[in-house]
Amino acid sequence: MEQYVIKGGNPLYGEVEIGGAKNAALPILAAAIMTDETVTIENLPNVRDINVLLQAIEGIGARVERVNDHKVKINGSFINDVKVDNEYIRKIRASYYLIGALLGKYGRTEVALPGGCDIGSRPIDLHKKGFLAMGANVEIAHGFFKAEAEHLMGNHIYLDKASVGATINIMMAAALAEGKTVIENAAKEPHVVDVANFLNCMGANIRGAGTDVIRIVGVEKLHKAEYSIIPDQIEAGTFMCAVAATGGDVMVTNVIPKHLEATTAKLLETGCEIEEFDDAVRVISDGRLHRTQVTTLYYPGFPTDMQPQMAVVLGVAEGTSTVTESIFENRFKYVDELTKMGANIKVESNIAIISGVEKYTGAYVNAPDLRAGAALVIAGLAAEGVTIVDDIQYIQRGYEDLEGKLASLGAKIEKVTTEKELQKFILRVS
Ligand code: UD1
Repeated sequence: MEQYVIKGGNPLYGEVEIGGAKNAALPILAAAIMTDETVTIENLPNVRDINVLLQAIEGIGARVERVNDHKVKINGSFINDVKVDNEYIRKIRASYYLIGALLGKYGRTEVALPGGCDIGSRPIDLHKKGFLAMGANVEIAHGFFKAEAEHLMGNHIYLDKASVGATINIMMAAALAEGKTVIENAAKEPHVVDVANFLNCMGANIRGAGTDVIRIVGVEKLHKAEYSIIPDQIEAGTFMCAVAATGGDVMVTNVIPKHLEATTAKLLETGCEIEEFDDAVRVISDGRLHRTQVTTLYYPGFPTDMQPQMAVVLGVAEGTSTVTESIFENRFKYVDELTKMGANIKVESNIAIISGVEKYTGAYVNAPDLRAGAALVIAGLAAEGVTIVDDIQYIQRGYEDLEGKLASLGAKIEKVTTEKELQKFILRVS
């Protein structure tokens, strides 16, 4: 089993380049099969969830050519099956994007119900509501989401919650439906805009992405395109929090600073210095942080995917901070692990009350999910002594070479697979 072993206490210095956004790349890969022409996608992150989705796309017959680690060519004209099922696809959340893509293109699909990080109940009723409104028959049975429509028709769809997944899924199906679809209370996240831009590059007619009303006029078919995915705001935010907690001075490059505004604002409140450039942010921290309050919200609010990393920063900030989670109900599972490292956090309902401690102490911890796993790595970097983070397969779902990037900034971190490798690392750093 792979683990990260970290010797904490080294400030981070230098420059780190951020990759493409996983949560934009996943729906974009699904949307790429909606044309019979070849689509080229660049700035793809080389992470597990992406590779699982690419395998699923290949599994239904589409041609997938990995040009290099970050570039892929996809041709959907060879698709010979609209049923998507394999052992791995059930484990990723984004498998549901194949529903919108295949329903839009072929009028029918059957996709194994999605898994994803265990961060609370993750319903798909709004996806269902959208497809039903567009005239599809939808059935959820035997672990599959089955949708069929003779004529997929545009309609007015109000989303009770501004769900990212439902907005994108409905947008994809509507791109090839008959007539006009209006999504009200749509999600405004940067990746929603990126998917809309990509679909428009393929000839779709989508207006308003990034606002809460998206208007889509269905087109007959989509065509080839070349597209580069936006930078990952969560990967960037994770590095920013790592610098805040550990101390140091790092230039985080290949980012869109506007997408990072919520994280930037909160780190400024804790006392970090942040400089914004056109496509980079520089974070400076002396490791002496102040308390603050954070509430997760839909974009442009503070992202729920940054909540654990920010909580780790606040765990070593002076005073009592609060972190309120308003999107998912079970996103504090890392608190018990962080407690093993000396954190003083009490969770009451959806609020974590964090009494800052002077420092974390290294411990053996388990990554409970993707972002919480990254947060524990940050705690390990800031801790006194050695931390072992187990179950890092969760972290690898969404971070490319996290250990390599951190090591290039001066962190003492290594991925180990055996007890011998672990002991060798400990000997070397002690
Ligand atoms: C996506 C991201 C995830 C991120 C989340 C919020 C992917 C693969 N995952 O997840 O990393 O944490 O956005 O930014 O991109 N909801 C319903 N019914 C539905 C769908 C959602 O009630 O049909 C609720 C959810 O329970 C949650 C809220 O809406 O409370 C937001 O969920 P949503 O934006 O859909 O998250 P995901 O698309 O699952």
